[in-house]
Formats: sequence, structure tokens, C-alpha cells
Amino acid sequence: MGKHQKWRAEECLNLIPSENLTSHTVRQLLSGDMGHRYRADDRFYKGARFMDELESLGEKLACEVFGADWASLRPLSGHMADMIAVSTLTKPGGSILTVNPGDGGYPGLSDQAGYPTFVNVRNLYFPFDSERMNIDVEKARGMIEDEKPSLVVFGQSFFLFPHPVRALVDACTSAGSRIAFDGSHVLGLIAGGKFQKPLEEGAELILGSTHKSLFGPQGGIIVGKRGCESEVKGRQFPGLVDNAHWNRVAALVWALDEARRVGGKYAVQVITNSKALARALHEGGVPVKCSEYGFTESHQTILDVKDQKEIEGFTQRLEDANIIVDHGIRIGTCEATRRGMKAQDMERVAELIVRVYKGEEPSKVRAKATKLRREFNRILYT
Ligand SMILES: Cc1ncc(COP(=O)(O)O)c(C=O)c1O
Repeated sequence: MGKHQKWRAEECLNLIPSENLTSHTVRQLLSGDMGHRYRADDRFYKGARFMDELESLGEKLACEVFGADWASLRPLSGHMADMIAVSTLTKPGGSILTVNPGDGGYPGLSDQAGYPTFVNVRNLYFPFDSERMNIDVEKARGMIEDEKPSLVVFGQSFFLFPHPVRALVDACTSAGSRIAFDGSHVLGLIAGGKFQKPLEEGAELILGSTHKSLFGPQGGIIVGKRGCESEVKGRQFPGLVDNAHWNRVAALVWALDEARRVGGKYAVQVITNSKALARALHEGGVPVKCSEYGFTESHQTILDVKDQKEIEGFTQRLEDANIIVDHGIRIGTCEATRRGMKAQDMERVAELIVRVYKGEEPSKVRAKATKLRREFNRILYT
């Protein structure tokens, strides 16, 4: 743990878009006494009065932040939030329309051993425009009309541009399809009023992880419109969540309050940084997806490298240079933004990535990456 802490927290430029940095208070709350306790709705466990208060406060804050009518902070992860939504909004024998993992959809919602296969729900995949990295609206409308999926889930793991919820809501309504939005990746941007407003646009639920672009503890959340609260909460417990890990909930409540207060400024800077990083990489000769469409409107930049061997070699050389990305290759700006980096700093990050891409020895770039990281020791937007 000590070695990890020194390396990843102090020496690396962490650019995985699924990750973020929590504030010091969020970390303290994670280590608090609630992490030892149980609480249940039927009052089976005594001693829970402050956890009761905490949950009500957290639900109120989440409603304010996401413009929702109700919320649950109990899902233990984004994946579990997906499981709760699928279990509630479909029935065995039904169908679910999502983005195909091959187009950057979430594998946990796919028929390649994802959750729908456990509940006998058939997968359909959105027609997808891979040039624009988005759902093909016209073809999707036709598919919804023809197939009448039980549930349509917008959102994806490789997520650059807002999804066309508003454009497809009428087709979903006439087909009797319910609509959820998996905002795991973009929840912090939505909380800051950026990217898109899925509930206003027609989704019944937003669900997702609380630790990607949102800077909460690792966990999940569901927020929704009036009408499906008791359905979802009835499925959630006792079906899929029992103990909600109340230290995590306490930490999440704090992070939601941070989002309420400074989430707008944070989200603007994350997206500004993302665009600056993408442009600088592109200008430096690294192939970046969607250059003709402004690169990105989210915290992610996606590199257009297809050869698996090249991906493995490049991402490993970046790791050797203390620059951490995933095999996507997706590059995220959340953590850098929380550390206080601005567009001009992202250009410096891009320059280091370009040097590794062009074949410079990672060991020569490593000291520069760590030096750059060490210029940013605070955590902002707290
Ligand atoms: C779109 C999407 N949904 C759900 C998840 C699962 O989230 P978690 O890791 O919090 O379980 C992910 C994870 O990367 C994701 O990308």
C-alpha cells in the first residue's frame, strides 16, 4: 500500500477517466464509525438515528443536484445501480436497448455475460455512428418502433458527446419503452449542469458510479422522476442491496454538497481541459477520435489507435513514464482538474504523451511527468 500510495498518489499523472480524487473530508468520512454499523428500514438495528438523518439529507441533496424527485444513495456501485434499474424496469423475457460494447457501451449491460443474461432479458444494440461516436438517431427511431424494447438505456463507457435522449423520447413513449440514463462516466458533469440533463430530456432514471467524473467515494446512486420510486426502492431492498455501507453514504453526502456548491465551475474546467488536451495531442500527431467534431464534450479524449499490440506497447510505455491511462485508449481530465490544472497545463501533459508516442525513452519522460504532477499538490473544488 505504501509503495502504491507514493507512486500513484504522488508521482503519477493519473488520467484514467473512471477515476477521480476525493477531498480530505470525504476521506475522513470514509474512515468514520459508520463503516462499522448496520441500519435497516424496519428498525431491526438500534442506534441508527444519525444514519437515518444522514440518508434523508443525502437524498435531498441528490434531488437538488440532479433535478430529481427522489434519490437513493444505497447502490454499492455503478454496476449495481444498473442491476437495480434493469431488474425494476424489465421483466424476464423482455428486452433492453443499449450501446454495444464494441461501440464503447458498458459490457455489464451486454449479452456477453453481462447482467441482462442473468435475468433472461434479451439485448438489442443501438445503431451507432462510430465516426461521430454517437447513436444514429434515425436508425435508432426505426429500431425502437419495430422492436419495442422494454427498456432503453442511454449512456456509455466511451462517452464523448451527449446522447439523443430528447430526440428519441417520443419513439420510446409510443413503443412503451421505459428510459434510463447510465451516467456513470458523466455524473459529475451532469451534477455541474453540463453535458446534458437526462431527466428533463425524458429519462425516468439517472443511475451511475459516484467516483468517475463525480468526485465521491467509490459507489453508486440512482435518482429519478416521480412515479417509479417505490418500484425501484422495492427492488433494491431486499433484492439487491442490504447494508448500504454508511461510511460511504456519509462520504457521498459530503461530495454531493461539494458538487452543489462548486460543481458548475469544476465541470466547465474539466471539459475545457479535455478539449485542450485532445487538441494538443492531435496537433502533436497523436490520432484522436472525432477531430472533425470538436474532439469531446466530456471528461474523455479517445485515441484512435486500433492495433491491439500498439495499444499495449504505448500504454505500457506511458505507465513507465508515470502517465497512467487505460487500454481504451481513453484519457480523462477529472483528477488533473481537481489538482488545479488548466488548459495550458493540459498542453504540457499532452507534450509528454506526444514524446512517448513518438518513441522517446519513457525513463527520460518520467522525471518530467513527476515534476509536473508535483506542481499541483492541492485538491480543489472542495
Ligand atoms: C457506463 C458504465 N456503467 C456502469 C459502470 C460500472 O460502474 P462501477 O465500476 O461503479 O460498478 C461502468 C464502469 O466503468 C460504466 O462505464
